[in-house]
Amino acid sequence: GSKGEEKDFLHLSDFEKATILKILDRAAEVKAQLKFGDRSFTPFKGKSMAMIFAKPSMRTRVSFETGFFLLEVMLCIWDQMISRWDILDLAKYSSVSVINGLTDYNHPCQIMADAVTIIEHIGRLEGTKLLPASVVPFHFVCVCPKGFEPDKETVDKAQKAGISKIEITNDPKEAVKDADVVYSDVWASMGQKEEAAYCRQVFQGFQFILLFLGCQYNWFDNAILDGPKAYFMHCLPAERGVEVTDGVIEAPNSIVFPQAENRMHAQNAIMLHFLGL
Ligand code: CP
Repeated sequence: GSKGEEKDFLHLSDFEKATILKILDRAAEVKAQLKFGDRSFTPFKGKSMAMIFAKPSMRTRVSFETGFFLLEVMLCIWDQMISRWDILDLAKYSSVSVINGLTDYNHPCQIMADAVTIIEHIGRLEGTKLLPASVVPFHFVCVCPKGFEPDKETVDKAQKAGISKIEITNDPKEAVKDADVVYSDVWASMGQKEEAAYCRQVFQGFQFILLFLGCQYNWFDNAILDGPKAYFMHCLPAERGVEVTDGVIEAPNSIVFPQAENRMHAQNAIMLHFLGL
């Protein structure tokens, strides 16, 4: 299924659509099994897994470790990287599969968890107006202040794949029009805290209550006044009152918490795939 049968899970565009969809199906299947309380499924029995971190992590560490525990891994080794060790080198020189839990460049496990969540709530992935993809067709609209546009090489690559409609705009109201899902991230990422004050200034007008009031959507009673119904997603950690208000993150149409749970289910399915289980 994968392009050249990849050993590692580093970037989504290394894979065929069929492989990604197969892993997503598996995630839903294993999630249902765990939710049902079926503890007889212990595919990681006798396996040892290692996690290597360059930065502090909460969600990535907890979601992987919970998956290890539930699927009964024998041993989990956890280490903090002493020097910066590129994940591409690690994958190149190791004989075992390497899964990209998060790098500065990309976060494929998060994308898989997002995809599981979208399928659960919208019932389909293809054609959804949200995520960038060179693998599955999306209508992706990125809205950001001038100067914060995504990396040109990545956008070009996705455009070249020719299956997704990709737009970049600086106009929040225009961007959310007809959206199935609106997705926000924290304005200044971990390790960029010195930029936080600057981002707060530049991103004024991009906070998620303003946007929805702008398109006449009332989150508090889940009423669509004039415009489409959209789900709200955020990969967390969220700075409440900064990029998103409490009202939005707690709204009926917010799927932030199932999205967070799905990190584990998506990652379990990724690990099962790469272990050939
Ligand atoms: N969203 C996410 O990956 O969070 P951590 O940095 O806490 O792992």
